[in-house]
Amino acid sequence: MKFELHTTDKNSSARAGTITTAHGQIQTPIFMPVGTLGTVKGVPPEALKDQVKAQIILGNTYHLYLRPNTEVLEAAGGLHKFMTWDRPILTDSGGYQVYSLGQMRKIKEEGVIFKSHIDGSKLNFTPEYVMDIQRTIGADIMMAFDECPPYPSDYDYAKKSMEMTHRWLKRCINRFDSTEGKYGYEQTLFPIVQGSTYKDLRRASAEFVAEQNREGNAIGGLSVGEPAEKMYEFTELVCDILPKDKPRYLMGVGTPANILEGIALGVDMFDCVMPTRNARNGMLFTTKGIINIKNKKWEKDFSVLDDGLDCHVSNTYSKSYLRHLNKANEILGAYIASTHNLAFYLHLVGEARKHILAGDFASWKKEQVEVLMQRL
Ligand code: GUN
Repeated sequence: MKFELHTTDKNSSARAGTITTAHGQIQTPIFMPVGTLGTVKGVPPEALKDQVKAQIILGNTYHLYLRPNTEVLEAAGGLHKFMTWDRPILTDSGGYQVYSLGQMRKIKEEGVIFKSHIDGSKLNFTPEYVMDIQRTIGADIMMAFDECPPYPSDYDYAKKSMEMTHRWLKRCINRFDSTEGKYGYEQTLFPIVQGSTYKDLRRASAEFVAEQNREGNAIGGLSVGEPAEKMYEFTELVCDILPKDKPRYLMGVGTPANILEGIALGVDMFDCVMPTRNARNGMLFTTKGIINIKNKKWEKDFSVLDDGLDCHVSNTYSKSYLRHLNKANEILGAYIASTHNLAFYLHLVGEARKHILAGDFASWKKEQVEVLMQRL
């Protein structure tokens, strides 16, 4: 993997760059649609390319390990071939899902023992095993196995958890560096900064992660219920320590405003279920503001969803029609809303990149945050 930094904004820490992977290039800053189970819910790969203009998508180790399973994925030749997506893929390590979904989990130095949320069977994830699974999935970017402590966590718990995440990181690196990709292309491993909401812990974790000198770095343990101001404060603190010449990934973030603030603080990569999950609930992000399509206000509004995007779906279907599909619980509604919201997120980061390159990102961002978060 290669990262080329083109420009850093004069009035903020925003950057524009290019990541090159075995499955092609990613123009940063970038948003990665979440495809937990080898599918971005409701949006087929051809629409991800042609409508959404997604450059990289995310998969989840925990989910893919349970279904279909590693045997099927290996027989398919990896996740790219299995789902017919030939652009880059990043897989999260399960270090988050284990805690959010796993039942009866026991976290020990060796790893995590927990019950499957599907059939209750007992599973044992170690840092080494999680590397092996991600080798089999074949993600271009693999994530280290970490513990994401809840918010709030007391200082002692956060410190012990961070120290274990660091020891797990060393084990992930050892396993990763002593194995190879299974499908003839290179993969890379990103470490994850933890440390909850304690400045000294965050600093120590960012320094430890920076010392590992990997090709990119992630910030975890944020957007877990803390106020947005805290999320920005800790993102800034960590970004100032992480190397400038490597991409920075803020995990699980966020709203359009969160993403613009994150970009201003020096983050290059984002992922979040919000555009797809909220789409299924009738919430649309548009270039004019936020729409709740269930609202009676849209019943006879035959204007298109959003004429400010280069997306056929957004430029074609009306608010009235989508409202009807949503009310009738028709699956086409989920496709239209999800495709539109993702196209909006990709448009947003694409515009941010243009304004970073043009040198007016900070003033553009200020204007946008107000427009995008208003309810129509
Ligand atoms: N997704 C959102 N936050 C996190 C985190 O802290 N760790 C991991 N592995 N994934 C995440």
